[in-house]
Amino acid sequence: MELEEAILNRRSIRKYKQEDISTSQVEELLRLASWAPSANNFQMWFFYAIHSRETREKIAQAIEEKLEEVLSWPELQALKERLSWMSRYARFIREAPWLIVFCMDDYKSAFEEILIKKGFDKEKLEKWRPHAEIQSVSAAIQNFLLAAHARGFGAVWMVGPLFAVEELEKILEIPQGRRILALVPLGYPDEKPEPKPRKNPEDTWKFIL
Ligand SMILES: Cc1cc2nc3c(=O)[nH]c(=O)nc-3n(C[C@H](O)[C@H](O)[C@H](O)COP(=O)(O)O)c2cc1C
Repeated sequence: MELEEAILNRRSIRKYKQEDISTSQVEELLRLASWAPSANNFQMWFFYAIHSRETREKIAQAIEEKLEEVLSWPELQALKERLSWMSRYARFIREAPWLIVFCMDDYKSAFEEILIKKGFDKEKLEKWRPHAEIQSVSAAIQNFLLAAHARGFGAVWMVGPLFAVEELEKILEIPQGRRILALVPLGYPDEKPEPKPRKNPEDTWKFIL
């Protein structure tokens, strides 16, 4: 598949067939993900590729239980209806044969160490070093999604279920210094969503010629 075609035709897929995807095919996708650019070539990503039905079930249950807890917060009552669709996250995780958990390992460049020593506060540091680690892992996630689409698989990039991040860290035994950034269920698509509208590109750029 041409790159441009993959970029234009990839969709977030939220319904999956029962058909499985082999471990070697997932390995190949993760290898392609890791060819993403990264700040200082630090490659601060780490991927958990979960096929185990038992582990996926634990994650799905943790998300359901945490969602119930969050939705009972009095502060959230006004948003309750809008947020209750989040219960579908558990379905994606049970239905898709794979769940990829994209993580980011602690990263500090030598330059950042110097800025800290110079007394830069958090706000100024973020301006000078705008989350290079998140940008790097995000590039890997996009590589993964495009490669998955090019092979006929479907996936969706999700941060919504991270209200259960502490439970997920326990289930996956995530070590100190590693942070979960996104969950991506992967399977064969069982839907063909219409493209979501995009802003008028001319409104999102400014050429300085
Ligand atoms: C950082 C990020 C977080 C997202 N989180 C969620 C999510 O929690 N749940 C979900 O269903 N989709 C999520 N999405 C998918 C977006 O809804 C989707 O990309 C967008 O609506 C455009 O649709 P498309 O991917 O089909 O082009 C996320 C996408 C990104 C990039």
